[in-house]
Amino acid sequence: MNNVFKGPDALKDYLNPGKHPNLPMVELPASLNPFAKDKVRIFAKLMGQSPLGNVKAVPAFNMIREMFLRGDLEGVERLVENSSGNTVFSMALAARQFGVERTQSYVPSEISWNKLLMLQFFGIEPIVNQEPQNPVENDPATGVFKARRDGNEPDAVNPGQYENPDNPNAHEKWTGPQIWQQTEGKIDIFCAGLGTTGTLIGNARFLKEKNPELKIVGSLRAPDNYVPGVRTQDLLKVVDFDWRRHVDHIEFVKTKASYISSMALSRRGILAGPSSGLALVGLVNHLRGLKKDNLLEAMRRSSSGEIICVFPCPDGPVPYLDEYFKYIDASHFPPIKNEELLVNKP
Ligand SMILES: Cc1ncc(COP(=O)(O)O)c(C=O)c1O
Repeated sequence: MNNVFKGPDALKDYLNPGKHPNLPMVELPASLNPFAKDKVRIFAKLMGQSPLGNVKAVPAFNMIREMFLRGDLEGVERLVENSSGNTVFSMALAARQFGVERTQSYVPSEISWNKLLMLQFFGIEPIVNQEPQNPVENDPATGVFKARRDGNEPDAVNPGQYENPDNPNAHEKWTGPQIWQQTEGKIDIFCAGLGTTGTLIGNARFLKEKNPELKIVGSLRAPDNYVPGVRTQDLLKVVDFDWRRHVDHIEFVKTKASYISSMALSRRGILAGPSSGLALVGLVNHLRGLKKDNLLEAMRRSSSGEIICVFPCPDGPVPYLDEYFKYIDASHFPPIKNEELLVNKP
């Protein structure tokens, strides 16, 4: 594949995950892998290396294209979605290729300022929503409910990433096969952060079909902890997918640990955002538990002599830069010399 996109469908093809080489997968060095000596190998799957720079480029393209093929976009002038940023950004850009120019997004009130600017930069209309911390089923205060309601208006449509089967289907079709191929079928543990749960379900379906022994770990935010794109167990109530059926273990991860882990990955050249850090911390915690229960050794013996783990990195750190300075204390950052000379200070 020469990686050239041309002709009348160049942009549509460029956004199509099926028309790209495999996204990179990179093994963590021993400095980032506390179990390297136990013959555990950990690989980051860099979903942020897709054309739109985040994991959601994959399901967004699939959802929009399938809607177009079914005729669901006929007469539609605007998309409405609930999204922490990445989905709606990816959807809006895909939708323009399929004839829908306008996109509105309900965003959580905790959204970072940079992400809001990003949405505006790309011509997406943000609607800030104060999410209930403990929503009831079908809670009318949630952005998910409001986007669904608005999507019923005659000129609008709500792709509904929390219930649309083309979200997990996209990962089953494209991401899972890549991971299987890139690990030469030797993957033992897959660990992903849970937002809509599409990444976890799609990959789990494909990988477990290939190897039913493979373990699936889901990383969630610990209660009252914030990590963009990922949910707490309570907030998963708005998700309609049957994610529990696909998960073997759940890990709860805190905000600070997620941001520190993401910064450590990024400083080694693996550009990984906060939810990548969350997935890695969840994986490491899970491995620690296995080791404590003497299960790591048994698992290694029954696999290829080593344990191969993969965690997807949904995006990079740059859209969240201001947040790192909020959640990580100043001692982690080099001081700025001659700061008093700066013309533009925050
Ligand atoms: C940054 C980030 N991380 C993780 C996720 C979770 O992925 P999924 O929705 O497939 O569970 C998302 C989803 O929006 C995201 O934007």
